[in-house]
Amino acid sequence: MEISLKKLWVISILIIQQFAFLADASHSRKKIVPALYVFGDSTVDAGNNNNLKTLAKANKFPYGIDFNNCSTGRFSNGKTIADILAIRLGLPTPPPYLGVPKSQRHQVVTGINYASGSCGILNSTRSGDCLSLDKQIEYFTLSVVNDLPRSIHSKTKLRHYLANSIYLLSIGSNDYMLNYFKYPNETNNKLNPEKYADYLLEQLTSRIKRVYDLGARKFVMREEKENIIVGEGVKRDKDQEFEKVEDDE
Ligand SMILES: *[C@@H]1O[C@H](CO)[C@@H](O)[C@H](O)[C@H]1NC(C)=O
Ligand SMILES: *[C@@H]1O[C@H](CO)[C@@H](O)[C@H](O)[C@H]1NC(C)=O
Ligand SMILES: *[C@@H]1O[C@H](CO)[C@@H](O)[C@H](O)[C@H]1NC(C)=O
Repeated sequence: MEISLKKLWVISILIIQQFAFLADASHSRKKIVPALYVFGDSTVDAGNNNNLKTLAKANKFPYGIDFNNCSTGRFSNGKTIADILAIRLGLPTPPPYLGVPKSQRHQVVTGINYASGSCGILNSTRSGDCLSLDKQIEYFTLSVVNDLPRSIHSKTKLRHYLANSIYLLSIGSNDYMLNYFKYPNETNNKLNPEKYADYLLEQLTSRIKRVYDLGARKFVMREEKENIIVGEGVKRDKDQEFEKVEDDE
């Protein structure tokens, strides 16, 4: 099955338009898709990094100051775009995969968040420990193969469930900040920015295809713009990056 990224863009544009409509028209919070699954970096991490050996954690005040004044691990003062999307879809905000005890993971059928701050599309993009996109997809595979069948017993129902759920990806800027610009090594020097972007797209496409092959059909790709500000006036060590993400609402 060949899926081109162009096709995915069309799908995501359609879905985003649908969301825009929902945002306007729907005040009811009726569940309109079965689940929201989230892959990405600090723009959508909901606390996975709290469980990892890394400095890229957002578990201190004032993070979460607008989230019941509670720092959950979100790199935000409040909700992330993933939370807002979940709420608009009538779903609970997807919990971080590593924050749910193993024995309870099969009970979560409204979506899970695998995102991890400081990671990227490439395995080599990281700052300390993080869930690379490959690792996130590996965990999603475990959810599909081991956990979900314990709650959704019929194979047909599970197929429909996976096909109707939404898959949000918000990832890519760290492949520049924590890789291309940070390590001008042989590989990176060889590629000009356009070639590097093509390479990233290729890598992203093959990973999206793996999620597709597990049954996912409805993808939303979030375009990352200049919404990440590397902390200004904060002490920075060589291996230390501070990120701040603006709340989108
Ligand atoms: C919010 O949390 C911080 C850190 O725990 C605390 O110092 C502050 O007093 C809290 N603010 C409110 C309004 O509860
Ligand atoms: C990235 O890591 C995963 C394991 O997490 C491995 O399966 C994959 O081959 C790696 N990819 C590259 C390009 O090194
Ligand atoms: C150079 O950076 C790339 C990331 O683009 C990484 O995959 C590769 O392992 C690095 N190579 C060396 C020799 O450090």
